[in-house]
Amino acid sequence: MFSRYLLVEASLAVGAVMAAGSKSCPVDAPLSCQNSTAVADTCCFNAPGGQILMTQFWDTHPVTGPEDSWTMHGLWPDNCDGSFESNCDKNRAYKNITQILQASAPDTLQYMQEFWKDYKGDDETFWEHEFGKHGTCISTLEPTCYADYQPTQEVGDYFTRAVGLFKDLPTHDWLAAAGIVPSTSATYTLEAIQSALSAKHGKPVVVNCKNKELNELWYQYNVQGSLQDGKFTPADPVGSGSTCPKTGIKYLPKGNGSGSPAPAPTTMTTSTGSAPTSTTATAGPAPTGGAALSGKGRISVSTSASQDGGFLISSGAWYRAAGATPATYTATPGGDGATFTLSTSKGKCAVQEKDSSLTCGSGVSTASAFGYDGEHLTYDGKDTFYADKMPEGSDQGVVYATEKAVSFQASWTAA
Ligand SMILES: *[C@@H]1O[C@H](CO)[C@@H](O)[C@H](O)[C@H]1NC(C)=O
Ligand SMILES: *[C@@H]1O[C@H](CO)[C@@H](O)[C@H](O)[C@H]1NC(C)=O
Ligand SMILES: *[C@@H]1O[C@H](CO)[C@@H](O)[C@H](O)[C@H]1NC(C)=O
Repeated sequence: MFSRYLLVEASLAVGAVMAAGSKSCPVDAPLSCQNSTAVADTCCFNAPGGQILMTQFWDTHPVTGPEDSWTMHGLWPDNCDGSFESNCDKNRAYKNITQILQASAPDTLQYMQEFWKDYKGDDETFWEHEFGKHGTCISTLEPTCYADYQPTQEVGDYFTRAVGLFKDLPTHDWLAAAGIVPSTSATYTLEAIQSALSAKHGKPVVVNCKNKELNELWYQYNVQGSLQDGKFTPADPVGSGSTCPKTGIKYLPKGNGSGSPAPAPTTMTTSTGSAPTSTTATAGPAPTGGAALSGKGRISVSTSASQDGGFLISSGAWYRAAGATPATYTATPGGDGATFTLSTSKGKCAVQEKDSSLTCGSGVSTASAFGYDGEHLTYDGKDTFYADKMPEGSDQGVVYATEKAVSFQASWTAA
């Protein structure tokens, strides 16, 4: 990514010496914020701003960006204690970010025009603000870090890195996989949102609200090497925590629903038998027996080891191959209002008595009772399922309700 950008830059800079660029950094450079002694070379080590935040917005009034995606806010260097520097070099507070990117990183610009949106409609000014306030404080983007610095050269590196990180953080899809979907009526718990995102990012995510409405997320990293070329490692948040309330968080749709229909909400049947007043995950980790799922949905898998957990197929097996389609499951509430049974096109689903494996098929005569704790499917009061190993390629992993080498959790998304 970086070297392609350099070629473009070099071919534009008439008469420039080739091989301009940031110096290459040692492979064993320390991780930012994790060093135990002072590191002198801040071209290969982000300091003092070594805690790098990729921040995202969910703007609903006014709406920005696609209905089914969060948008970018910025890429921020925080100090390792949550404080931060800002506006570090007014000579590099450029007023022509669009032109700079047009010339140096057109693909990045094109992506930003869709996903890095200003709520007032003035993207250029928003990008100027982000680079001027935060980008100029990133030590490895300093002009002196480039062997043959050409003015504005670091701008493409900043925005291209931000876009690259953002593409690996598909918040909307991660939340949807946990049954957390935009809705005018549903409310969600902070814990449900946080655990859905932490499971994917690998570290807690700071979740921010405005008027109890989900509005912004901060994903945090430490970096080994430079911002432009280095390796990003998810990091525990430092500094201020989430601003959302613990319960009753709204995740409003973008627009008023007249566009493409949002996924149908999961109906929850409450144990008191009252009419459903809200959709998925309202209860957070509810007491066992809190609510039953009903209707059609998909079951996706999350593990702490993999961002791409896969899903369950119609036989009840776990599948992770790219491009495959998850099976549709039908949940039928039991008479108690708290548990439900599952079935697929293959037949009823049951945890087998002999080896506790999950099977859906015509041979199953009595379906098992499952539960939903507001975030995950449960069986016998536990929200963890198991397999002998992570399925790879076209493996169909047998799912068990008793302990095996690999554990995972299963989430429901209404279909
Ligand atoms: C880590 O390196 C930075 C930059 O040299 C320095 O300011 C900081 O004190 C170092 N941290 C520790 C614990 O030595
Ligand atoms: C952008 O503005 C800077 C001065 O702030 C100038 O050096 C640079 O040539 C301009 N770049 C483009 C592509 O217009
Ligand atoms: C919202 O709904 C109204 C009609 O009720 C419609 O005219 C308008 O275009 C909708 N706006 C959006 C952003 O969907």
